[in-house]
Amino acid sequence: MQNNLLAGKKGIIFGALDEKSIAWKTALHCHAAGAKIVLSNAPVALRMGEINKLAETTEAPVIGADVTNMDDLKKLFEGAQKHFDGGIDFILHSIGMSLNVRKGKAYTDIDYGFNQKTLDISAMSLHRVLKTAWDMDAINEWGSVVALTYIAAQRVFPDYNEMADAKALLESVTRSFGYHYGVRKKVRINTISQSPTRTTAGSGVKGFDGFINYAEKMSPLGNASGDACAEYCVSMFSDLTKYVTMQNLFHDGGFSFTGVTQAVIEQMEK
Ligand SMILES: NC(=O)c1ccc[n+]([C@@H]2O[C@H](COP(=O)([O-])OP(=O)(O)OC[C@H]3O[C@@H](n4cnc5c(N)ncnc54)[C@H](O)[C@@H]3O)[C@@H](O)[C@H]2O)c1
Repeated sequence: MQNNLLAGKKGIIFGALDEKSIAWKTALHCHAAGAKIVLSNAPVALRMGEINKLAETTEAPVIGADVTNMDDLKKLFEGAQKHFDGGIDFILHSIGMSLNVRKGKAYTDIDYGFNQKTLDISAMSLHRVLKTAWDMDAINEWGSVVALTYIAAQRVFPDYNEMADAKALLESVTRSFGYHYGVRKKVRINTISQSPTRTTAGSGVKGFDGFINYAEKMSPLGNASGDACAEYCVSMFSDLTKYVTMQNLFHDGGFSFTGVTQAVIEQMEK
């Protein structure tokens, strides 16, 4: 995508791990649309080194931050403001991790210590990011914050496990902080609920192949790709969507409002 939709805008992009990451694709699209960006990820992810390629292409500094650590976040925002020589116009929260899924624990047998960590990394981290920005008054008027979510927050997808609860909390923080930041500074905060996408986090879900094929068959437009999601993020960061806030926006080819499709009926008749 080559346009000037984000010309003059400055943003922080969390969560680019490798080329498959939705955050990686969003960083490329934001750069192509004229934005200046700062990239951030957990120190352990930065050690993989992949992000340096993206940093070079997008001419962006990389500032590490574990999103569960308030000191890290403060340093990140200080570094970003210094780099931009001013405030921030947009933020992408593209972060998710389930310790219970990783350890193979079923939803009915979760470890609550892991569960707390999952909720902190995947959901309360949005509150932490926003609170850090709020305290530092780091986001400019009409700024835009987007976090990525999944429809398991509204409907049961058994193998999505505790991440369903994390996404429900993430969407709630979006609404609650969206109210306060809207009143105070006209900052808008939304979640984009994305189709299943082949990434490191996505593929961690048990039975992911069945999951993604089913969604493809159940979506009139087919599954939305990571690139399409990145383009939607650009539109949400642009001035064309100034009055959209506190929403959960489905970017899923129509999956969320489809009861059944001909393709699924035919499959069931076999
Ligand atoms: N892939 C899908 O099917 C899909 C669908 C809907 C929503 N999402 C959401 O999109 C977002 C991005 O995921 P993705 O699919 O691009 O996968 P990904 O694995 O590429 O990205 C997840 C990122 O979270 C980061 N992260 C984990 N713990 C962290 C911590 N403590 N501090 C800072 N960063 C941390 C990882 O380093 C990684 O970069 C997630 O919120 C995910 O739940 C993904």
